[in-house]
Formats: sequence, structure tokens, C-alpha cells
Amino acid sequence: MNAYIRSVGAFIPEKRVTNDDLSKVMDTSDEWIKSHTGIENRHVAEIGVTTADLATKAAKVALERAGLTAEDLDMIILTTATPDYIGFPATACIVQDKLGATNAGAFDMVAGCTGFIYAIDNAKNMIIAGTAKNVLVVGSEVLTQVSNMQDRDTAVLFGDGSGAVIISESLDDESYMEHAILKSDGSGAEVLMRKSGGIKYPFVDGETTFNDTALYMEGQAVYKFAVKVNTELIKELIERSNLTINDISWIIPHQANMRILQAAAKRLKIPIEKFYFNLMEYANTSSASIPIAMNEAYEKGKIKKGDKILLTGFGAGLTYGGTIINW
Ligand code: UT7
Repeated sequence: MNAYIRSVGAFIPEKRVTNDDLSKVMDTSDEWIKSHTGIENRHVAEIGVTTADLATKAAKVALERAGLTAEDLDMIILTTATPDYIGFPATACIVQDKLGATNAGAFDMVAGCTGFIYAIDNAKNMIIAGTAKNVLVVGSEVLTQVSNMQDRDTAVLFGDGSGAVIISESLDDESYMEHAILKSDGSGAEVLMRKSGGIKYPFVDGETTFNDTALYMEGQAVYKFAVKVNTELIKELIERSNLTINDISWIIPHQANMRILQAAAKRLKIPIEKFYFNLMEYANTSSASIPIAMNEAYEKGKIKKGDKILLTGFGAGLTYGGTIINW
């Protein structure tokens, strides 16, 4: 028995902020952002709209396309760096309630921007083990609400959105998920983090500021890590399955920075056209970026049954991972 991606969906908030808009509120420019990252716009959730709200909307699209109701779900796995609450309750439980998924368990999975890869592999394993028939995996983020607007190094990079898939038992030998490669290097934990508010750096009444709890990143350290692991993952996934790059229809990577992917493509001698990008429009949406890109490719008719789609992710933890989806 195996599992396959039965459907995909996404929800992106309507409000769109351009690089020029940002250059009016901080010392940056369209030219810098575009040339250093490839990002042109990002979408922003209105104040009061939460990670669970976006996730619920993406999930509804995926459910409808799967021809399932919320009651058909056995499990909801939500990945996010921006949960509705710190620690607990899980944002997945809020989504379970909003959907009316009365038969589903629900939990959050924390693996930074690699969360979606970790979650779909766990969903696949639940189906193979027989503990679930239909699993909703949803990556959802409201990163603009944890961005430090005084830190131009990070504030220009992130956007909000959600992407979801339904994973069910494979119906044939053609559509299935391969085992993922899932890795971590916790020695890099502090190069990409939200520092304060947890147990290590607790919130101190009257002292902790918003910016202490905001997203912090050492960009160059993450950049070097990202180029290295993307290169390794793509090579290992292709070799492990005895494939060549010509067998892969699309590489859909975590959408962080065009330059990271160009560097990986160059090292591997893979044409950049193999990579599916939409970070120009949505910026980095962390664990939502891969399903958002996958949904867009699907909606544009760029993915068809039988295609092999290679996914790679990297991010906070540090974590990284990838897999091949036989669509
Ligand atoms: O999903 C999580 C994974 N995260 C990532 O993948 C991010 C990985 N890192 C990166 O993508 C890149 O390191 C960045 C895009 C974050 C930064 O690009 P960079 O080429 O590494 O720039 P830098 O940090 O070396 O900064 C170069 C210059 C600095 O000025 P000086 O010191 O040379 O005068 C920065 O102050 O660019 C300046 N700078 C900016 N200028 C205008 C940094 N951010 C900005 C900005 N606008 N927004």
C-alpha cells in the first residue's frame, strides 16, 4: 500500500504590498530586494486574521477538490512558525473545529520552513500503517505579524498565506509518494528564530519588547546552509530513485530566495527552468510556500498525472528535507 496527494488547495490574503510600498516605510528599495532575492510583492493578512483562518480556507479548497467532506478526515497536521497561540493549543485544533472535522485528530508539527515536507511524509506513513485513511496537511503562516519592521534584513523577505493537501491511500501504481529524506542540524538553532517568549528566554513583564519576540535571522549563514542542502537533497533524491533530471517534471523548492536556487541549479548543472518559482509574488511564506507553489502549478495546468515532482525545503531548526511525488 502507498499514499498519494489526492488534492491541493491554497488561500492567499488579498492585500498586496509591493517593494515600493516597503521602501516608503523603511530604508530599502525595489532594486535591492529584487536583485538580492527575486521578491517583488508579498501578500499580507489583515490584523485579526489568523493562521487558522488562512489554513481553514486553503483546506476547504483541497477538500472540495478531493471530493471529500471534513468528516472524512482522520487527521489534520498543521505546520507553522506562526501559531495562533504560543505552544498550545495547537492551531490544527482550531482548524479542526472551524472545518467541523469531527472525526479527525489534530496536531501541529514544528520544523520551520521544512515543516510541509516533514508533515506529508508523516501523513503518508500514517496511511501506510493503516492509522488514517485521509489526512489533511496544511502549511499556514502570518509571518508579517512577527516581522520586525525596524529590521530591513528580514522585514522585506516574508509574506502570509496557506497551502493544503489531502493525502489518501493510492488508487493505482502510478500516483504515490516516495519516502522523504528528513534531516536536521540543531547546532544552527539560533541563526533563525523567534527568540523571546519561550522557556529559554522567557517573556519578562515590562522588559520584553515586541522585537524580542519577532523573527530573527542571520541571513548569510542561512544562505550558505540553504545552497549546500538544496544541492545535496536534489542530487540524493534523484540518485536514490535511479532517475536523471530529465525524469523530473518540476522541482518545487521552498520559496525563499531566487539566488539560493540559481546557485544550486548551477552547482548541479540543472536548467533553472526545472524549478517552479512564485516567490516573486508571495515572498517567503515559510512552511506554506511549497504547497502554495504546488497549488499554483496545478491551477495553471503545469502538473499532470504521472509527473514526478521533486520537493525540497530548508529552514529553522535548522531542518531540511525533500521528497519525490509521483502525481
Ligand atoms: O525561509 C527561511 C530561510 N531564509 C533564507 O533562505 C534567507 C537566506 N539568506 C538570504 O536570502 C540572504 O542572505 C539575504 C537576502 C537575507 C541578504 O542578502 P545578502 O546578499 O546576504 O546581503 P547582506 O546581508 O550581505 O547585506 C548586504 C548589504 C548590507 O549593507 P552593507 O553592510 O554592505 O552596507 C545590508 O545592510 O545590504 C544591506 N541590506 C539591505 N539594503 C537594502 C540588507 N537588507 C537590505 C534591504 N534593503 N532590505
